[in-house]
This record gives sequence, C-alpha cells and structure tokens, in this order.
Amino acid sequence: MKPTDRDKWDDRYREREVASARAAEVLCDHLHLVPRSGSALDLACGLGANALLLAARGLAVEAWDRSPVAVEKLAAAARRGGLDLHEEGRIGDLDAGLRNVAQLIARRP
Ligand SMILES: C[S@@+](CC[C@H](N)C(=O)[O-])C[C@H]1O[C@@H](n2cnc3c(N)ncnc32)[C@H](O)[C@@H]1O
Repeated sequence: MKPTDRDKWDDRYREREVASARAAEVLCDHLHLVPRSGSALDLACGLGANALLLAARGLAVEAWDRSPVAVEKLAAAARRGGLDLHEEGRIGDLDAGLRNVAQLIARRP
C-alpha cells in the first residue's frame, strides 16, 4: 500500500524529539508583541514549537496536526511542562475542515 502524507510525517516525527523543533523566527523576533493571556491556534503544528512557545507565554493554545506521532509527542511535552495546551493537542486533518473551531479562516495565499 502506498504511504500517505500522514505516514510520511509520522515517520519523520518518529525520528525527532520536541526539543529539536524550533519556533518560527517571526514569532521569536516579535514575541514581545504577543499578549500574555488569551488563546492561540497552531494549525499544522508538527512537534509544536510555536504552540509550546505561546503556551509558555501564558496563552491557552490549541494545536492541530494530522500526525498522531507529532501530536502525542507534543502533548507529552506540554504535560511535562505544565503548559495549557487544550485537549493536549488534537489529531486533525485540516482538509476535513475545522468546523468545531471556526466558521471562517482566512489566509494569505
Ligand atoms: C513543514 S511541517 C510544519 C510543522 C510546524 N508548524 C513547524 O513549523 O515546525 C508541516 C506540518 O503540516 C502537517 N499537515 C500537512 N497537511 C495537513 C493537514 N491536511 N491537516 C493537518 N495537518 C497537516 C504535517 O503533518 C506537518 O506536521
């Protein structure tokens, strides 16, 4: 059977640990502008470096990815750090929509 995109990401994340993931440069460079409370959504979070950074800042973070391997590693890291990661990460396929999160999501193409 042909490996799916999810299988490929799962394989990559089996080889990696959360500590090896780096948050986006733009987020690190502008962290002082990010509020210390409220909520954040990290879509296609992978090992969740962005989610963990935002949770450590004080935000309640929901993190989604289609890779169960990544989400489980992220959830374990959040638990160890006592961080507020909603539902401890979610295994979700963005292609299936995000009806429980928002009715409309805009992104720059
Ligand atoms: C390049 S990685 C980025 C991971 C993370 N945001 C980062 O910056 O390190 C892309 C991620 O998108 C996820 N992904 C791809 N298509 C997806 C989909 N349809 N639904 C949910 N996650 C998806 C993959 O599993 C992978 O973790």
